[in-house]
This record gives sequence, C-alpha cells and structure tokens, in this order.
Amino acid sequence: MQEIIEKLHQDALAQLAEAATLEAVEAVRVDALGRKGKLAEISKQFGRLAPEERARLGKLLNTAKQELESNIDSRIAALESAALDKRLESEWIDLTTPAPGIRPGSLHPVTQVQKELEELFRSMGFAVLDGPEVESEYYNFDALNIPGDHPARDMQDTFWLKDGRLLRTHTSPVQVRGLETLKPPLKMIAPGRVFRNEEVDASHEHTFYQLEGMMVDRDVSVAHLIYFMKTFLSAIFKRDVTVRLRPGFFPFVEPGFELDIQCLICGGKGCPVCKQSGWVELCPCGLVHPAVLRYGGADPEEWSGFAFGLGLTRLAMMRYGIDDIRLFTGGDLRFLKQF
Ligand code: DAH
Repeated sequence: MQEIIEKLHQDALAQLAEAATLEAVEAVRVDALGRKGKLAEISKQFGRLAPEERARLGKLLNTAKQELESNIDSRIAALESAALDKRLESEWIDLTTPAPGIRPGSLHPVTQVQKELEELFRSMGFAVLDGPEVESEYYNFDALNIPGDHPARDMQDTFWLKDGRLLRTHTSPVQVRGLETLKPPLKMIAPGRVFRNEEVDASHEHTFYQLEGMMVDRDVSVAHLIYFMKTFLSAIFKRDVTVRLRPGFFPFVEPGFELDIQCLICGGKGCPVCKQSGWVELCPCGLVHPAVLRYGGADPEEWSGFAFGLGLTRLAMMRYGIDDIRLFTGGDLRFLKQF
C-alpha cells in the first residue's frame, strides 16, 4: 500500500507540473485530494490494517496530502503571476512616444500676412480697427461719396440683405467709422473680409481679404502716401521696392491712384509675371476726399489725409506664388497644410 500511496503522490506531482491553467490545477486537486479522490479511496482501506501499520501509513498519507496541497498553492500562485505579467505586458503604454498622425494646426496664409502687416503698421503708430462684415448702405456707399445713382455702385456687385443692409464690398467703410471714433489726427488700418457677388474663377472670389489704411492729419500730402507705402512694401517684401502712381478713379479719394511696384521677379525688365510691363499693380490709393472727411466729422479745411486699399488675398498670392484664389476659401487641407 505504501508503494501505491507513493505512486499516487508522484503521479499527482507530475500532473501538477504539467498543468498550464488554473482549471487543469483544479482537476489535479479534485482527482487526488477531493472527497472522492484517489487518496480518499486509499484511506478507506485503512480499516483492515494493523494499528501500527495504519498509524505509519496514515502519517505517510497525511504528509503526501500536505505536500500536494502546498504544491498546488504555489502552482496557482505561479500561474496567476504569469497571467498578470502577460496582461501588464499587453497593456503597457509608453507615455513618451509621440502620438501618431496628429499634427499641430497652422495659421492660414492670409492670416499670416495680415498679422505681419498689423505688427508693421502698429510699429509705425497705426491703430488696428475692426468693422462689421454686415454693413449699412450708408457706410459702405453714401459716406464714401458714392450716392445711390452713382455708377461706381455697379463696380462692386453687392450681396444685399432683406433688411436693406449688405455684406460690405470693401474695407473702406472703416475709414468713416475710424474718423468718427478716433478723431484726427489719426493713423489706422482695418484688415478684414469683404464680399462680392461675382462669378468665381481663378482670380475672382465672392469672399476675400483687404487691408484698408488711412492717415489724417494737418497737411498730409501725396509725399506722405508714397513714404508710408514704400516703407511697408519694402518691409514685407524684405527689399527695397520701387513704386509708381498712375491716375485711378475712386469716388472717396481725390486725386485717386493705382500704385504699382516694379516687378520683383524680373526687376522691371519684363517677364510673364508682370506681363512684360515691368510693373505689378498692387494697391489703389489716394488723398481722402473732402466729402468723406466731412461725413466722418472732420473739417476738410483743417484736415487732410491719404487712404489705401490693399488686397490682402492678392498679396498672399504674390508672396507664396499661389495662382488660384479659390484655394484660400476652398478648405482643402492639402493646401492649408503647406503653411
Ligand atoms: N475700396 C476700394 C475697392 O475695394 C479700394 C480702394 C481704393 C481703397 C482707393 C482706398 C482707396 O482706400 O483710396 O475697390
């Protein structure tokens, strides 16, 4: 009987060593130590043994049971710790690795040019003003010396609202608003979005950006206009630019001009960018019309000024070599990601 007990003990230990799951360990335990297990079966036969033999084998059996039990416990502990290790391994996260596929956003090219210009003009003492995109007919037209029957109204196809207001067609209304709030002497710029009811193509958009500028003081002349234009253009193009003025008509300036810069690509010799002329049209401007000063509450006998209307979107196109204006408001991330 001693051999049987020892064999059962050894077999159980061997099975235990092979048990790879908690279920398998439990099966070994039930088979050897359970109420109807192999060791229990053996002890049933103890009744027919002599007392000292029964005591000796009983002791042997108990030792085998205890040893098995403690082996089972440590096997369970080993399996549980292996399972935990495996889980930790699979759930491990390296918090220092950069997140994949997430890139920081960037400023829209027009915003970048706008911010740069704002900074530049601020450094020259200009205030940066804002005006409403939904504007009144008064500020967009009348106060700029464009009466209702004036042909200049047709120059700017307008989005009208049902209540008689409109989406501003240019940033010039901020001239009059600026005169009202700042009072001369003043230097101001007003960057912002403008809207025109236009057929959209590579060089025309219904929505684009302008930057209005105005200086009103005593004895402001065309010389001041040229000085400020040259200074800021040289700063944004990062080199000396040559400018020229051609006559241009706008009801809110007198005289009015078109300001051209000598082509930066060919230096004035003539190339496809300047259409062989050597000059690129950049920005309309002029001396503020006395009627506009009056609308803004300034006496034209005392005050004079210059104004200009820079095409911010056009400037960004020149700066970055973009040949289709529709890209700016198209919302295509492949375009925007490049800036
Ligand atoms: N507001 C005009 C436009 O959008 C541009 C303009 C012309 C602005 C002459 C000015 C100016 O300040 O002096 O067509």
